Amino acid sequence: MEVVIVADAKAGGELIAETMAQLLRRKPDALLGVATGSTPLPIYQALAAKVRNGAVDVSRARIAQLDEYVGLPADHPESYHSVLRREVLEPLGIGMDAFLGPDGAAEDVQGACEAYDRELAEAGGVDLQLLGIGTDGHIGFNEPCSSLVSRTRIKTLTEQTRADNARFFDGDVDQVPHHVITQGIGTILEARHLVLLATGENKADAIAATVEGPVAAVCPASALQLHPHATVVVDEAAASKLKFADYFRRTYASKPEWQGL
Ligand code: PGA
Repeated sequence: MEVVIVADAKAGGELIAETMAQLLRRKPDALLGVATGSTPLPIYQALAAKVRNGAVDVSRARIAQLDEYVGLPADHPESYHSVLRREVLEPLGIGMDAFLGPDGAAEDVQGACEAYDRELAEAGGVDLQLLGIGTDGHIGFNEPCSSLVSRTRIKTLTEQTRADNARFFDGDVDQVPHHVITQGIGTILEARHLVLLATGENKADAIAATVEGPVAAVCPASALQLHPHATVVVDEAAASKLKFADYFRRTYASKPEWQGL
């Protein structure tokens, strides 16, 4: 995988937004897989700025969801459906008819998961999948010990993830659902390009395990090592436990610009 160390979250957001813009210039109806959480917000802000100043046209772009809480109605303000509408689709001016996501309120959860995997395949697959990483190494909501070949399915959140996400529920961990639907690791690995952004010291251990540890279900993000085109963008703090940091810096500094990410 390629590791790019950037100065801060804003620089990471700008770099990834430019990569998405380049993809959309090549393929205007690209299917963009998006992630929730605090980390990707600078990406969405930078991409929205490019839309506003005419640097990229997203009128034919399609957006796919990575994961969703089970049991929250779609119109709950913290359902990822609502979060993505607020943070991605509306700022980019993309309508909900171009949005693909699983139904977190479905009675038949397993059926909804299988339907979503089919929907992604029928849409031609995800061109670029954005990923955050949990402090426990999760991608999407694939918690530690998730099968590395898993498909979209229901998962139970760890208490650490529920505590990490309580800030979106008035700091009340009891309001954070226990169950989620998440694209499986096998599903995620089918996207053509994986781009993971991590910022802050609290992600340094998870990033070291992802990049330099063994491929192991205990660190789900380590599955990125199995993907032919995976890019990990980290700020200095998230990179602080990488043994090969200097090598990654030198490699990126000497990369020809035309190659992009
Ligand atoms: P964060 O979440 O960006 O809010 O830290 C990342 C994740 O849980 O995937």
